[in-house]
Amino acid sequence: MKIIVLTNSPAENVKLEDAAKQRGHEVRFINPSKAMQYISQHERGLDRLYVANDSKEPERIYSKDVDVVIPRMGGGVEYGSALLRFCVENLGAYSPVNGWGLHLASNKAWCLQKLSSENIHVPKTIITCSPKNIAWIVEQLKLPVIVKTWSGSCGRTVGICDSKQSANSLFSFAVHAGLKILLEEYIETGGTDFRVWVIGDRVSVAMRRTSHDKTDFRANISQGGKGEKVQLSEQDEALCIRAAHSIGLQVAGVDLMKDADGTSYIIEINSNPGVKIIDITGVNPFIDVIKLCEDNYKKHKSAPSGTSALSKESMLLNDDFFTSAAQMMNQNKMLKDALKLKI
Ligand SMILES: Nc1ncnc2c1ncn2[C@@H]1O[C@H](COP(=O)(O)OP(=O)(O)O)[C@@H](O)[C@H]1O
Ligand SMILES: [Mg+2]
Repeated sequence: MKIIVLTNSPAENVKLEDAAKQRGHEVRFINPSKAMQYISQHERGLDRLYVANDSKEPERIYSKDVDVVIPRMGGGVEYGSALLRFCVENLGAYSPVNGWGLHLASNKAWCLQKLSSENIHVPKTIITCSPKNIAWIVEQLKLPVIVKTWSGSCGRTVGICDSKQSANSLFSFAVHAGLKILLEEYIETGGTDFRVWVIGDRVSVAMRRTSHDKTDFRANISQGGKGEKVQLSEQDEALCIRAAHSIGLQVAGVDLMKDADGTSYIIEINSNPGVKIIDITGVNPFIDVIKLCEDNYKKHKSAPSGTSALSKESMLLNDDFFTSAAQMMNQNKMLKDALKLKI
């Protein structure tokens, strides 16, 4: 397979390149900020991909040279997800990640909305941009309350308010500073959570993370958390798989928490999970990512345009559109029948 990895940090993705090469595939890294989407006026789909450079003309990437596109984007997801959709829908490449899914995963508020609408258990959450009714919010969520920005990673923009006083000042501070925040109930786990790599229909690897000491509740490895490989229960695996699929991701790092009663919560879903798990667990999940692409890319390439598995998947996110289109067609038919009767 000819694989393009969309990333601005190739060094972070060496293990992905290793896995692809080990299995006999070609890999090229493209920085999304240098990619140019050329939408042609032709009706038969002659759209093109270019990469900007310092010479007179950008380099053209021919669609025959792109079988698979794997996004590994930390930031710039708005442009990046548009680029991914272009590669899949306009150039016919396969990606295990849906462009809309990438978008949803980049925003904790959107992601929790979608998960809840799919009946996936998440912490009780309040999303508001009003500095009012803070006492009521605290009453709903109970102290301590977790505060998060809509976007952010590595635990950098996740905080905790452990008194009414800190909740009062912090919520109003955040809203007036123009931050988009959400407020979440605190899940008591003794500073542990689970990072779970879902690949296709299975869990490739999972690790338990524990915060580095009692002064921090965040378990992120980048915040000093410690990780160890674990085997999840079948139920928790199924929950993580369903969560990833519900937002359109076949490759995802799902964050799971389990409280003292053993109740499981999905906290967030990462479309670009970190690679430290490889050294910690000794498992390189990118091998499974490559195998998943091997199993699927041919099916995708041979599917007629607009009916590929991924196009269908992105359509699922737009059920309402299809329902109203079907209703309209039905109404048109009824109108035609009525006219025929008159004639
Ligand atoms: N509702 C919560 N209750 C308790 N701890 C939480 C909660 N939400 C997040 N955490 C802790 O904070 C960490 C970072 O939160 P997360 O939502 O995953 O943001 P990030 O994208 O920055 O990793 C989690 O790994 C977990 O340890
Ligand atoms: Mg996280």
